[in-house]
This record gives sequence, structure tokens and C-alpha cells, in this order.
Amino acid sequence: MEKTFRIAPSILSANFAKLGEEITDVITSGADIVHFDVMDNHYVPNLTIGPLVCDAIRPVTDAIIDVHLMIEPVDRIIPDFAKAGADIITFHPEASNHIDRSLSMVRDLGCKSGLVFNPATSLDYLDHVMDKIDMVLLMSVNPGFGGQKFIPETLNKLRLARKKIDAYTEKTGKEIWLEVDGGVNADNITEIAQAGADTFVAGSAVFGASNDKDPNKYDSIISALRASLAKA
Ligand code: DX5
Ligand code: ZN
Repeated sequence: MEKTFRIAPSILSANFAKLGEEITDVITSGADIVHFDVMDNHYVPNLTIGPLVCDAIRPVTDAIIDVHLMIEPVDRIIPDFAKAGADIITFHPEASNHIDRSLSMVRDLGCKSGLVFNPATSLDYLDHVMDKIDMVLLMSVNPGFGGQKFIPETLNKLRLARKKIDAYTEKTGKEIWLEVDGGVNADNITEIAQAGADTFVAGSAVFGASNDKDPNKYDSIISALRASLAKA
């Protein structure tokens, strides 16, 4: 059976002065998901965008908006993102005092839910909440900034996560996506896919590819990522 791979450009590296256009262009070029990085200068040492921006881009695209919360705490802001049209909301387990409750809150608001694992965070957090998870996101850099280098140990962790997910899917029939985030590019995406990821965040690799005015400017980078994925 052919594997489904999803490409999720992180708009953190987009040109914010024309965010709507950037999103349209990247989706027209064949990307699948809009990855939306939320940082609070508390959980991570950087500050980005919130529900207002999610609400503003929602009418621009039918693509899935994948909100990655790098904030602490998470419960107060989850309903705002659900209202702003997020499709998926993920958060870091260390940033919630009550992980099960936060996951349930996301689901109850009609969104897909997921946990994000920093490079040194154990996958054990998954063990008692698999039934409340639609996506597992492994960070392949320490969160906070785009443009960092992929941490190779992530490949071992991806293989472990793949095993856990496959065992769960076999038992329950329930699909869980395995996303990777940080330092992904056309040169390393093949081995990342081989290690078990099915959904790939790429920020600087995509939006750094070109800054001219051509609306098709992202065609070649998205095609290059797809070509590398086809080798996996
Ligand atoms: C990092 C963010 C990532 C980041 C990825 O904290 O979660 O989504 O934007 O950017 P690149 O692909 O440049 O590493
Ligand atoms: Zn992210």
C-alpha cells in the first residue's frame, strides 16, 4: 500500500507582511497543511502569533491549520484557537498540569488533538492517553526558532514512536499521524520518512526557497520535497 505523506510548511518563516498570499501560494504549490507556530516568550524564548492571526487566515485557505502551541499554560487559550478555525491543536505535555484534561478540551471543541515531544522528552507521556490523540509531533530541534539544524537522534525516536502508533492502530483501527518539526529539508526528508514520519513541517526550507514575486515560487521546493519522499 502506498504511504500518504503530508507536507506542512511552517508560516513562521513566511513573509508576515503578506501572509495570506504566502499561504495561498504554498498550498497552490502542493503543500497539504498550514503549520502555525504559537510562542509566548515564557515556555520558549520567542514571541509569535495568536488566535487573531489564525482567525484572519482561516478564510484564505481550506487547508488544515495545524496549531503548535509552545505556550504555558495551555487551557486558557485552547478555546480561542478552536473558535479561530484551528483544525489540529497540539501542545507540549510539560506545559499542561493536566494533560488528559487539555487533550479532552481540544477534542470537545471539535478539533484534532496532539502532544508535542521536545528532543529530550520521553514518549512515555503517550501511554495512558493514546485514545485522546490524533497526532504525535516530535521536535527535531529545541523549540523556539526556525532555521535550526535537525537533531539526528530524532530518527531513533521516530522509530520508537512509529512502533507505539502501529501497535495501537493494529489494536484499535484508529489512525494517528506522526509529524516531525525542525530542520527538515529535501536532503534529509527521505531518511526521516523511512524512520516513520508521515507529516513533515518545513519552515525555512520552504519559505527561504525564494522571495521573488512569482506566485509559483514554491513549486520547485514542494516538488523537491515530494521527490525525496517518493524515494522513502
Ligand atoms: C520551532 C517551530 C518550527 C519551525 C520549523 O520551534 O516549531 O515549526 O518553524 O522551522 P524550520 O523548518 O526552519 O526548522
Ligand atoms: Zn512547529
